[in-house]
Amino acid sequence: MKLIGLIGSGSSTAYAPVIIWDRVEHYAKEEQLVVVDDSRRSMRFLGVLRLIRRYEPFLDSRKRTSYVDNPDLVETGTLPHSSGYVSIIGVISENGVVEPQLPPNPGSKVYVVESPTDLSLELGGGLVIGVHKYSGIEIPLDPRGIPYHIGVVGATGTGKSRLVKAFIDEVLAKTNYNIIVFDHTGMDYSVFYKDNVVEGSRTVLDISLITDMILYRTGLNRNTYEPYIMVSLLSYIYNYIREKHPELLQELIGSSSGGRQKTLVPKTPSFQEFLNKIDYSRLQEILAEKNIVWDITSFKEQLIRTLQNMRARDSSKIRLGIALDVYLGKQFFESLNKRDMLPRDIVGYAGNNRLVVVDLSTEDLEARRYIVSSVINELWRIIEEKREPINTLVVIDEAHNYACRSCGVSHRAITRIAREGRKWGLGVLLATQRIIDIDPEIRGNINTWLFSKLQTPGDFNELKGYMDLSGISENTLAILGKREFFVAGLMNPLRIPILIKVRTVE
Ligand SMILES: Nc1ncnc2c1ncn2[C@@H]1O[C@H](COP(=O)(O)OP(=O)(O)OP(=O)(O)O)[C@@H](O)[C@H]1O
Ligand SMILES: [Mg+2]
Repeated sequence: MKLIGLIGSGSSTAYAPVIIWDRVEHYAKEEQLVVVDDSRRSMRFLGVLRLIRRYEPFLDSRKRTSYVDNPDLVETGTLPHSSGYVSIIGVISENGVVEPQLPPNPGSKVYVVESPTDLSLELGGGLVIGVHKYSGIEIPLDPRGIPYHIGVVGATGTGKSRLVKAFIDEVLAKTNYNIIVFDHTGMDYSVFYKDNVVEGSRTVLDISLITDMILYRTGLNRNTYEPYIMVSLLSYIYNYIREKHPELLQELIGSSSGGRQKTLVPKTPSFQEFLNKIDYSRLQEILAEKNIVWDITSFKEQLIRTLQNMRARDSSKIRLGIALDVYLGKQFFESLNKRDMLPRDIVGYAGNNRLVVVDLSTEDLEARRYIVSSVINELWRIIEEKREPINTLVVIDEAHNYACRSCGVSHRAITRIAREGRKWGLGVLLATQRIIDIDPEIRGNINTWLFSKLQTPGDFNELKGYMDLSGISENTLAILGKREFFVAGLMNPLRIPILIKVRTVE
């Protein structure tokens, strides 16, 4: 450890002024860990150096001195010195770092912690995603904070996704949590966990979502076209099943053919009957099992028949026909094929393998949100069934696409975890570039924040609203490098935000 100065007059249990020894002034950097040795009282305080300023007694901008009339006077000499503050973490004791009861004495010596061997701190065996930037001391994050939710924010390229990867590895290694990762780009996590990837494009979509996707892509008026599209989709499915698996139609409308009837050939339900009685969750299962094939030509034929039956106007028929060919095309219908997984399969995969990465990169935004919400809803279904903690962490990167106020189904699902997840061991980790794009209700329930250089000044004020930033200035954040993040909140083992450098993740 290197001596850098003395505690000045006016310390409290939270802050202590430091007068920096001029000869070693260049060693004193903001965010360094320091030990304050109050030898007279045999106490050692741990703290972080902050708000370092350079002063000169005669060059006070609010006082008139001879320098005002004669700037050349500086050539005869000045008396500059640096001073700053120690933001006090606590008193170093055998049981770790405990809350200080007294402020450090003026005159106590201040040392910079230069390496992990300088100091052994009992910080518990938590999740280590990196070390303190200057001292190299490991900062283990308390895993009990997982179900109280985690936010990772920083401008683009600061290393959020890599940090999250380090976090995932630690959770897998040191806790009993299962993890479901939604990989928005398909390049952040799928490449690292090749053996645990499930293609989001294998998830069965439901009729209302496919309708929404068609309406969104074509820009057709919902009031007019929603019924036509929905009924056409259902007729398509009905006809497909009637042709390929007629035995399933009875099952889909929930009529049991017990007793004597078994020997009879069951009557095929009409489309109207199918529409009235269909069991939609069974339908999803059948779609996953039987792999229904969608094709634009057959769908168009179905659409025309449906429009005729529903007595649609000619203009509606034309509009829909154009929309189908021009805005959707063959590709859209092909993207509905080869879907053989249900949300419960994804949750089951996580249960069996501890980790599942759902690659959402090839899906429409609406479909991505649907998949996120349906997987979360499945987790809630299990919780409601078993009434016991599920110990699962849901990781959502590029979270502004899912947790924004106008994000629809995924917003609702994430809000529920944020509000109620803690009771059931269900946590969410959201990573995003801009904190203000996350719905306030969700971000208000996030109790651990990891933040780096921020994209907008508003974000800094937002963070300040949630936690005591203990003298971290916006300027400090602005000059942070890649992989440098502050840890604050519940999982931080220290009581003030601390700067870590994330370990190498490659
Ligand atoms: N911990 C790390 N170890 C090794 N390389 C890193 C680390 N963190 C960041 N990098 C480098 O910086 C690049 C950007 O990191 P990352 O993708 O994690 O940033 P990001 O904050 O998620 O950016 P975006 O907001 O654009 O998603 C990586 O491709 C990698 O080259
Ligand atoms: Mg990223």
